[in-house]
Amino acid sequence: MQKQLREIEERVLEKLKSASALEELNDIRVRFLGKKGELTGVLRGMGALSSEERPVIGQLANDIRARVESELDKRMGEVKAMARNASLSREVIDVTLPGTVFDAGGLHPLTTVARQIEDIFTGLGFSVAEGPEIELDYYNFEALNLPKDHPARDMQDTFFFGPEMLLRTHTSPVQVRTMERTAPAVPVKIIAPGKVYRRDDDATHSPMFHQVEGLLVDRRVTLGDLKGVLEAFVGQMFGPKTRTRFRPSFFPFTEPSAEVDISCGMCGGKGCRVCSHTGWLEILGCGIVHPRVLEMSGYDPEEVTGFAFGMGVERVALLKYDIDDMRLLFDNDMRFLEQF
Ligand code: DAH
Repeated sequence: MQKQLREIEERVLEKLKSASALEELNDIRVRFLGKKGELTGVLRGMGALSSEERPVIGQLANDIRARVESELDKRMGEVKAMARNASLSREVIDVTLPGTVFDAGGLHPLTTVARQIEDIFTGLGFSVAEGPEIELDYYNFEALNLPKDHPARDMQDTFFFGPEMLLRTHTSPVQVRTMERTAPAVPVKIIAPGKVYRRDDDATHSPMFHQVEGLLVDRRVTLGDLKGVLEAFVGQMFGPKTRTRFRPSFFPFTEPSAEVDISCGMCGGKGCRVCSHTGWLEILGCGIVHPRVLEMSGYDPEEVTGFAFGMGVERVALLKYDIDDMRLLFDNDMRFLEQF
């Protein structure tokens, strides 16, 4: 029996040495020391021993149990420490490595300028209206006093989908859509920012560009109100020193009509290459809303008057940032965009 016990001890200690996982160690504990374990099994046979042998074997069995248990605990500790070290070395962080650089996103200059324009006009009490980019001939032309075959349609080279549908060539149709909704209530005081499309493509024209339309309809609105609002805008957008000039012009939807120039920021109005030596730069078209336009949209031109304007966001951006080619705004070259 002594031999049997020694043999068990040797085998257990051997197994403990080679065990490298906690589950293995637990297995060994159950198999040798558990209720149905090998050591317990041997001790159960002690009843058959003589009274001299019994204490000797009992003593031996207890010693073996104690040794195995202490060896087991030791191995448990070692295996746990190994696991901890392994996970530590896996998770090691070299704090001296250079970090990952995340580029901070930025707004496209056109977005910045469009938002500035919106901020200025909402500050003056205008609200923001929107309309579809795929538009009916009726809203883009007819309701703006541009009947079919009217020669003034030539001013805007148009992408047509068919005889009645097109990509809007300007944001002016939003004037009509808004008035149709609100008539006959006054005041109407909106700006309408958005994309517009024309068959143009060169250094100063892009087939898609952005406009901001403005419309104010109320009782007794005058050209003086238009001038006041636009001068307030120019002052805030380009600085208080910037002068404005109203030049008579023609648009079918306004009468009278004007184009607004601002003094050239490059030369201060003396004349330079940027302003083609005129001292002035054109930024928008405007006028007093034509009575026919008011009428077609449900307003009585005897009761109310209005002013309207439309400006190109790209133009404003080019002037504000002194950019000489509009295509730069659409190339999406990071070296260009990062400057803003
Ligand atoms: N829609 C015109 C264009 O795209 C710009 C314009 C001129 C808008 C006069 C207006 C206006 O509202 O009154 O060329």
